[in-house]
Amino acid sequence: MTIPLPALSKPVRLALDAAVRAPSPHNSQPWRFEVTGDRIDVLLDPERVLRVVDPDAREARLSCGAAILNIRVALAAAGRTSLVQLLPDPGRDELLARVWVRGARPAAPADTALARAIGLRRSNRRPFTDRPLPGKVRHALMDAAGLEGAELVLLEQPGDVDALAALLRHAEHMQSEDPEFRAELAQWTVTNGSREDGVPAVAGGPRPEPGSLLTLRHYAVSAGPQPDRPFEREPLVAVLGSYTDTPLAQLGAGQAMQRVLLTATNAGVSASFLSQPVEVPSTRVALRELLGRRAQPQVVLRFGYGFTAPATKRRAVDTVTRHGAPNAEEALS
Ligand SMILES: Cc1cc2nc3c(=O)[nH]c(=O)nc-3n(C[C@H](O)[C@H](O)[C@H](O)COP(=O)(O)O)c2cc1C
Repeated sequence: MTIPLPALSKPVRLALDAAVRAPSPHNSQPWRFEVTGDRIDVLLDPERVLRVVDPDAREARLSCGAAILNIRVALAAAGRTSLVQLLPDPGRDELLARVWVRGARPAAPADTALARAIGLRRSNRRPFTDRPLPGKVRHALMDAAGLEGAELVLLEQPGDVDALAALLRHAEHMQSEDPEFRAELAQWTVTNGSREDGVPAVAGGPRPEPGSLLTLRHYAVSAGPQPDRPFEREPLVAVLGSYTDTPLAQLGAGQAMQRVLLTATNAGVSASFLSQPVEVPSTRVALRELLGRRAQPQVVLRFGYGFTAPATKRRAVDTVTRHGAPNAEEALS
């Protein structure tokens, strides 16, 4: 049975508006939601998993993890508690989480601030300034990952960024030589602005000058002119890792990733992703060695003080949400 959209309660509507703002590779938005009363089910949309770049749906789970964190934060900021069960049904792999909206609790200022950051966060592929991040901000980013049970390793040792950059170049080369990768990238690069998914050319950022340390993913506009500002000379790069690499750990890492990104946004810090070395299996192994085998690398992020970056579109909540009637069991609980 379908319930008309106005039947969504205010906190559920707020939570879903926040959920769809999560980042996802190529802005593929690999999620669906099912709402039953005050319960939100978060599902993986297998049709939207990137077959070439993400064959195991690892990045899709990270993205859905980010959506789950947004739901938690939005509910907390709306003064509601929530109960989250990850992978609640072993018989349904695509059912990633079940979130129950529970009773009232005054919103903490930190929740309100994080919730505000959800709409302001964006991937910023443009050059950052050379201003370094203060120690306090670096610690806040690491603490944000730790709060969600993951680890954010900042590459601060001499030579570590060079080593990462070499892996990045190698992975980028392997991907750009693969016609299937190129076709998938082209499929998700939006040039006419009419789509509600994919990466618009304007968000693609300029192509770094030859000889730049880091190689960014080349969305359409990258083929255009050189940047009007140079990329930062000493980029701050960090690797977010989880202790295992199970679907459960990936959902946790996605929540950690999003808490890190929202914390950065709140501190006025921009971030962009450098996923190539994690997407290519051989460089992922080498990256883990570089980290001293401490954790399973999930995401590579570049942080810095940037200038504004454009927001990308999302499919509407109503497009990605199905509404069900509470069954007898739900009504009793
Ligand atoms: C797991 C994951 C991997 C990503 N990898 C890359 C990447 O390698 N290069 C890149 O430019 N953007 C990458 N992105 C960023 C997405 O393209 C971006 O989130 C999406 O286009 C939506 O834009 P927004 O983040 O500005 O909201 C990644 C995002 C996620 C969640």
